[in-house]
Amino acid sequence: MKAAVITASDSGYQGKREDKSGPLAARRLIEAGYEVTERRLLPDDRGRLAEALRELADGGEVQLILTTGGTGFSPRDWTPEATMDVVERPAPGIAEAMRAYSMKITGRAMLSRAAAGIRGRTLIVNLPGSPKAVGECLDCILPELSHGLRILTGEEQDCAGKADCARREGSE
Ligand code: MTE
Repeated sequence: MKAAVITASDSGYQGKREDKSGPLAARRLIEAGYEVTERRLLPDDRGRLAEALRELADGGEVQLILTTGGTGFSPRDWTPEATMDVVERPAPGIAEAMRAYSMKITGRAMLSRAAAGIRGRTLIVNLPGSPKAVGECLDCILPELSHGLRILTGEEQDCAGKADCARREGSE
């Protein structure tokens, strides 16, 4: 599977702060077996973020785009809106799962407005901005993501009858 990582950060884009979250997300993806073909550092600009997401998804090379940053309450936080501008099919369970998992670590997890969804054959997932949050959210989603991506790309048909899915649902 091929993936792209986009960091949304005004200060990172302006060179005022080192982007540690984008490289961390990329490293975690590589460790999980993904090929990271693209990394971008963009300002917190809804239009530019949406444009980059659209271009990467429609380019057909990557099956997964992770964004980091811009999910909070700051007046400049627009990543979830940019994501939903381009998403054709929302996948809210991914963001819900990240928040539920993260709430066991910090109550501030409820302040992330992260979204997730599908455009074409590409899944887009927002992560919060801090390296700590990126690591924690990826701990939550990475183990399950590859199954979803294989279904999205047609490598796997569906879950029906699969021993793994049945076991998780407690029906075995
Ligand atoms: N999620 C996890 N797992 N760990 C964290 O430390 N920080 C929260 C939240 N989600 C956090 C987290 C905080 S403090 C904020 S403000 C929001 O993510 C939004 O972060 P962002 O604006 O950098 O995207």
